[in-house]
Amino acid sequence: MLRYLTAGESHGPGLVTIVEGLPAGVPVDLEAINRDLRRRQGGYGRGGRQRIEQDTVRPLAGLRHGRTLGSPVAFLIENRDWVNWQEVMSPVPVAEPTDPRAAAKVVTRPRPGHADLSGVLKYGHRDARNVLERASARETAARVAAGSLAHQFLRQFGIRVVGYVVAIGPVEADPARYAELPLEELAERAEVSPVRCPDPEASARMVAAIDEARAAGDSLGGIIEVVAVGLPPGLGSHVHYDRKLDAALAHDLLSVQAMKGVEFGLGFAAARRRGSEVHDPIAWDPDRGYWRTRNHAGGIEGGMTTGMPLVVRVAQKPIATLYRPLPTVELFTHAPADARVERSDVCAVPAGAVICEAVVAFTLARFFLEKFGGDSLQETRRNYEGYLAQLREF
Ligand SMILES: Cc1cc2nc3c(=O)[nH]c(=O)nc-3n(C[C@H](O)[C@H](O)[C@H](O)COP(=O)(O)O)c2cc1C
Repeated sequence: MLRYLTAGESHGPGLVTIVEGLPAGVPVDLEAINRDLRRRQGGYGRGGRQRIEQDTVRPLAGLRHGRTLGSPVAFLIENRDWVNWQEVMSPVPVAEPTDPRAAAKVVTRPRPGHADLSGVLKYGHRDARNVLERASARETAARVAAGSLAHQFLRQFGIRVVGYVVAIGPVEADPARYAELPLEELAERAEVSPVRCPDPEASARMVAAIDEARAAGDSLGGIIEVVAVGLPPGLGSHVHYDRKLDAALAHDLLSVQAMKGVEFGLGFAAARRRGSEVHDPIAWDPDRGYWRTRNHAGGIEGGMTTGMPLVVRVAQKPIATLYRPLPTVELFTHAPADARVERSDVCAVPAGAVICEAVVAFTLARFFLEKFGGDSLQETRRNYEGYLAQLREF
């Protein structure tokens, strides 16, 4: 089974990812992983932290001469900001803080919308920094490294995953401007957009909306779409709740900081239509085998891929930290107060698209390996090709 663990605090020495379960012999391009880390750092609306960090992976284990060994792959991503936090975030006891900023970094005015209050209540901390350091989406750098690695495995089988932005606050992209584009062209359009949106006209309005929110001391969320092509039918299963691919994707996407809703294909809109306007008619021809004349299901039926592109949308809520803060209560005195202002993004939806892309890639790789297995890439490929041959005979 393919799985990963991450560790690391936002302002600690660094982040660690361990990916376990990839077969041996998968070629790994570290520069491609670093490119995805840079993509995560970008996007209009991010705060000052991204000017400090230049995320790159340092491979610690599991690779030799550019290929996986079949053993756990470990990466370290160092936090460059750590030099400014060594005392505040010291892993070992600090007798008498000499850094005058240390007291100011104690967080006792929990931010509505963040993990601060629930976290201190649950863990009994006197300082919400003990919560926010791990709740922070800095952790997603480690997830992008894992997902990017999984994506390289999927590409061996012609599977490609792309995440992009379709709405920021009230500004929505118009699918008529990108939905018919080949996926690579759509991806390139998103890549050159400051907000990772393939509709250039909407991009400009999204940038303006972020500027307005920033000027008002406020923040914005948005909607991300992730598409995966090249998937064979039959990843996932109908037989048990925890083997359904749509359920697993929803779980994994909702586990990303600030993601609050997931829909596949038509999604919630399907609930307002009749069945005849929703379900995807089945067709067959000698070249393609079985296919669908449309893809309202977003590529999943019965918890399994249909062979059509996977289309999943994710709602990201606005950033919790507000430069014009909401009311809160000071921990321990219980006095009314303004919520803590911690250096923050105004909008992180473009980054969210890169993270969701990585998360989808990892989950798909997990289900791919569940179906095809193999200790070496060669063995996985043999199993995969055997299945494709079986489909051709069907
Ligand atoms: C890429 C990204 C960047 C984020 N940056 C910030 C930030 O700068 N400030 C902030 O308050 N929240 C930020 N968040 C959101 C918080 O991490 C998140 O709201 C918080 O951990 C609480 O979790 P929840 O929103 O999932 O309930 C960011 C989220 C993502 C995906």
